[in-house]
Amino acid sequence: MTNKINISSLVRPNILNLTPYRSARDDFDSGILLDANENALGAPFEDDLELNRYPMPYQEELRSRIADFREVDSENVFVGVGSDEAIDLLFRIFCQPGKDRVLITPPTYGMYKVSAAINDIEVDQVLLTSDFQLQVVQTLEAVTEQTKLIFLCSPNNPTGNSLKPEDILAIADGFRGIVVLDEAYIDFAEQPSFAKEIIQRNNLVILQTMSKSFGLAGIRLGIALADPEIISYMMKVKAPYNVNKLTSKTALKGFSYVNAMKAKVEQIKSEREKVVGKLKSISQIEKVFPTDSNFLIFRINNALDIYKKIAEKGVVIRYRGNEPHCENCLRLTIGTPEENERFFNALETVLTHP
Ligand SMILES: Cc1ncc(COP(=O)(O)O)c(C=O)c1O
Repeated sequence: MTNKINISSLVRPNILNLTPYRSARDDFDSGILLDANENALGAPFEDDLELNRYPMPYQEELRSRIADFREVDSENVFVGVGSDEAIDLLFRIFCQPGKDRVLITPPTYGMYKVSAAINDIEVDQVLLTSDFQLQVVQTLEAVTEQTKLIFLCSPNNPTGNSLKPEDILAIADGFRGIVVLDEAYIDFAEQPSFAKEIIQRNNLVILQTMSKSFGLAGIRLGIALADPEIISYMMKVKAPYNVNKLTSKTALKGFSYVNAMKAKVEQIKSEREKVVGKLKSISQIEKVFPTDSNFLIFRINNALDIYKKIAEKGVVIRYRGNEPHCENCLRLTIGTPEENERFFNALETVLTHP
């Protein structure tokens, strides 16, 4: 199946009519640069990155490297300040405050709801099943005239599992709005990215990030892959110099070390299997949920209390028991072997001396 929709009919009129800010670097980026009120004398310290100059507004080199890595074209790639910027931009492009709606499938990543609230957009929710898969029919039935975005997350946070590919595609093909598929954890998953599906479906936006598999959460580099028309709206609405030079330089370096990244991902996955095995051997743990990510959730009686006591022992994990279908669940990120051992020591102490 494929899905081609009329994207411009979904875009807010003020965005369609927007004349974007033209930055000084849009026209010329070399020569005697006396156009952008920069400090010609430079930073007050040794600086080989020309940090006195603004960064490239459209980040062509970085977008081209990302495109090669994900096997799409540069014009399919947007880069921003974390995936969170891309999420916010999608709200601002497609959702009219106080009028439009979005749909999410809890338990899922909390930022979709927060971004909706910031943008004054109502959120409809169709829960995942108790094994954290999509309810495809119910989800499509919950769509209204005002529903502009559906957020899906695979592998899903906080549950860790991948959604079934056929369900994701059924929703993308059955919806006349934009499906945002958050693949923040895709490089840890057994199933491949949906990146190439954007060629068949101009209503699919894939979110990725350098925060997880690349281990570069500190640089705040988020990626959106989509039809060039959607990317052009994102470029139009973003702040002119959203990605700074230190970030793009480090991100480019990341793409020169893809093999090393993949090796670390494998290490984390093998450590994850050990952690899963150990958790399953603890009799008080009721259930360890299957995961395709660099974290997992498990169910244990008195989870909130256990979470607090583990934190008092210096090991911080996350209580997720308030999420639907996640009663008494704790979320654990896979750490280094030493960190994981510290976690198990803390957990065992708490369980043996309640
Ligand atoms: C599903 C999901 N999407 C996006 C993000 C945030 O990504 P970024 O660091 O690129 O803003 C997270 C972070 O935890 C996440 O779990």
